[in-house]
Amino acid sequence: MPTASLSRWTMSYFAAALAFLLAAEALAVAGIGYPAAGLAEPATLVVVHLMAIGWLSLAMAGALLQFVPVLVSRPLAFPALALPALLSLVTGLLLLCGGFAVLAGWINAPLDLLPLAAAGLLVGFALIGLMLGATLFNVRPVTLFSRFILLGLACLAATVLSGAAFAALLAGRGGWLGAVALLPDGLPFHALLGFGGWLGLIAFGVSYKLFVMFMMAPEPPARRVLPVMLLAGLGLALASGGLVAPFAGFEPGTALVVAALGLLVLASGFYGRDMLALYRGRRRKALEINMLGSLPAFAALGLGIVLLPAAVAGGATDGLIAALVFLLALGWLGGLTLAQLVKIVSFMTWLETYAPRLGRGPAPRVGDLVAMPRTGWWFLSYYAGVAGGGAALAAGGATGFRWAMLFCLAGTAGIVAELARVRRLSEIKAADRPVAQERPRMLLARIDQRSPSHVDSRRIASPRA
Ligand code: HEM
Repeated sequence: MPTASLSRWTMSYFAAALAFLLAAEALAVAGIGYPAAGLAEPATLVVVHLMAIGWLSLAMAGALLQFVPVLVSRPLAFPALALPALLSLVTGLLLLCGGFAVLAGWINAPLDLLPLAAAGLLVGFALIGLMLGATLFNVRPVTLFSRFILLGLACLAATVLSGAAFAALLAGRGGWLGAVALLPDGLPFHALLGFGGWLGLIAFGVSYKLFVMFMMAPEPPARRVLPVMLLAGLGLALASGGLVAPFAGFEPGTALVVAALGLLVLASGFYGRDMLALYRGRRRKALEINMLGSLPAFAALGLGIVLLPAAVAGGATDGLIAALVFLLALGWLGGLTLAQLVKIVSFMTWLETYAPRLGRGPAPRVGDLVAMPRTGWWFLSYYAGVAGGGAALAAGGATGFRWAMLFCLAGTAGIVAELARVRRLSEIKAADRPVAQERPRMLLARIDQRSPSHVDSRRIASPRA
């Protein structure tokens, strides 16, 4: 059975992503961005993109570089592009925040930082798309799982291209657009394709595969999963239509946003049904921290995705809409990502360290690398902050929001510390740790072709995992 090797740079993607999450949370605690500033103000744009690109997109890209090859049982195409992609994305994001800082009057620099940032982000995401797309197309016919990823990558392309156009407009270099009014009407579609398509749809697709393995549950038949992809695909196609409508002289109204969101609600309903069936049909009865830590994320998805279209259609206040987007971004996407990171980091660390030693001495279980129940307490702090933050936004309480974000920050900092301990094997007895030079490095997976630390789906589903 062909296998996939450990992704060398995935840990670095995760480290950069977590650093950007901590930065965004610290800014929110300091009262930077919404609700202290307006929704469309540059300060808010900084926090939104540190979250959307810095945290969620880098974590997603790092995870996909490791799991796409495993799930299609092909080696990653063009693996040497992983580091240049990471550097381009980080540079692009810092330049984007720099451009927003110029708009906010915090720094004095040319506004051309914005299109420059867009170029860096375009290159970075294009390299990610190339590596993943080429790997997925190496398998024929293209599997249903691959279609989720490919559709998500198409949404990423639309998000980045629209973001680049926005950046050019804000820098006063939108002449090429002529009379086409992309802003502000294009904003909800840009956000929908980024959060709903690139991040949301891929989270759906990947969780179908990973949760089957993590919970040792029966895989749902493709005919059951297909409606999720088709309904979401239709909703995201409508959102893409909203982005290009101004080029055809049409003004995409709120109705199009609501229709796109409505289809995503239906897709989420079918997805929720399947996740419940997986949970009920699981053979591994005891839930590990990654699954326990995902339960509040599912609650956030349920609440956020059902109420958001109603709030938009009903002309709800900015505060209520911001609260629901916050719940979906930090509760669902952020919570799910943090929870699965604990499993992915501990699993990759176990593979790197103990897989080569199996049968030659004691090897701990993957779960033994994680400090419990302490890690659970950090998740409790994080989710308490998300719940409090959502309530504060809905009530328009700027001070309450800052306090709530302090809980998110404390929880995240605690989880980051636990992940560093996992990489250092701190929970493992000294006698069961390998010698220092054979221990995993913090940010770089050790790729040793001779050792059997290859990843294949049987290993992920093994009782030791
Ligand atoms: C996952 C990816 C992304 C998501 C989820 C996302 C989300 C958002 C959201 C929610 C807003 C509106 C914020 C507000 O009004 O408070 C926004 C605005 C903006 N985004 Fe993004 N974005 C993403 C990627 C990008 C990229 C890659 C670029 C640049 C290349 C970009 C450039 C912009 C610009 C310039 C605006 C400001 C438009 C304005 O208000 O005038 N975004 N984005």
